[in-house]
Amino acid sequence: MAVLTILNEDKTITNAQEIASALANHGIDYERWKPSHPVSDDAPPEEILNAYSREIEALKTRGGYVTADVIDVNPATPGLDTMLAKFNREHWHDEDEVRFIIAGHGLFHIHATNGAVLRIEVEAGDLIRVPRGTLHWFNLCSDRRIRAIRLFQDTAGWTPHYTESRVDETT
Ligand SMILES: [Fe+2]
Repeated sequence: MAVLTILNEDKTITNAQEIASALANHGIDYERWKPSHPVSDDAPPEEILNAYSREIEALKTRGGYVTADVIDVNPATPGLDTMLAKFNREHWHDEDEVRFIIAGHGLFHIHATNGAVLRIEVEAGDLIRVPRGTLHWFNLCSDRRIRAIRLFQDTAGWTPHYTESRVDETT
């Protein structure tokens, strides 16, 4: 289950419904998904996508996503630190960043338009949708592992634009 921390209020939320409503105030979607049938978290990507096809199709319809894939990152991934360095500074994208976590953990920071900084740690079963244009940054957690379904409106849009605000350095 995810953990949401609102940094400037020093408030931590662990209840899924409360997380969803707190994030919805900032345009961020949070959901818990269950597979249609049991699937191992190390199953091949096609099996993972199949187990969550109902939710994926619903989300595609809602958000105009055209493709879905499965990414897999672990401590042995070549170039991991270079990859992380692209996303751990404040940035935005021209398309939504949508992740459903299969295994491992991820740490998103959202810099909301009201100035609040929200930190959300996601794990297996958590879906997060960060709308296009939202200022955010991403890190792995101590396990340096994440396996996740990604959905894309257009893969070309998923390029980081950096703010260079350095807000990310204060959290
Ligand atoms: Fe991003």
